[in-house]
Amino acid sequence: MALKPRGESGKTPDVTDHQPWSAETARAIIAANAGREGATLPILHALQETFGCVPEAAEPLVAEALNLSRAEIHGVVTFYHDFRRTPPGRHVLKLCRAEACQARGGDALAADVERGLGIPINSTSADGRVTFEAVYCLGLCASGPAIMIDGKLVARVDAGEGAARVVEACSR
Ligand code: FES
Repeated sequence: MALKPRGESGKTPDVTDHQPWSAETARAIIAANAGREGATLPILHALQETFGCVPEAAEPLVAEALNLSRAEIHGVVTFYHDFRRTPPGRHVLKLCRAEACQARGGDALAADVERGLGIPINSTSADGRVTFEAVYCLGLCASGPAIMIDGKLVARVDAGEGAARVVEACSR
């Protein structure tokens, strides 16, 4: 298993790649996507790509543009684990907690990574270095335990040495 940061330059995309919240920018993103079929999800993804999260302040703007209630938009944002409320750390580590990966040692891996990073799963380190999230299937079920680090999928990550490499990759 080789763990390298994503990106041709070797630079890991980080929180500095995201823009600070701006209602004006949000409105432009919403307007650019509002005509799409099933526009809610594309808009929310585009907002998250730009701001690193879907801030609560965006919900009424999306609702108004799509002629939906704020509660409906809020429901979508909170239903999908992928949408964040706050910007992520410089590294984003997702660890599969679904059954097939659990059966292949996912619990031990999660525990080792939690210990190594010093934070529980589904949290961001206080220094903003890493966001560690649970996901439920990364499509590598036959080759688990699986993780995604800064957008890059990695299969067969074992506890112990594998976990140590993951922690090291998130420390750069
Ligand atoms: S169950 Fe882990 S990748 Fe599918």
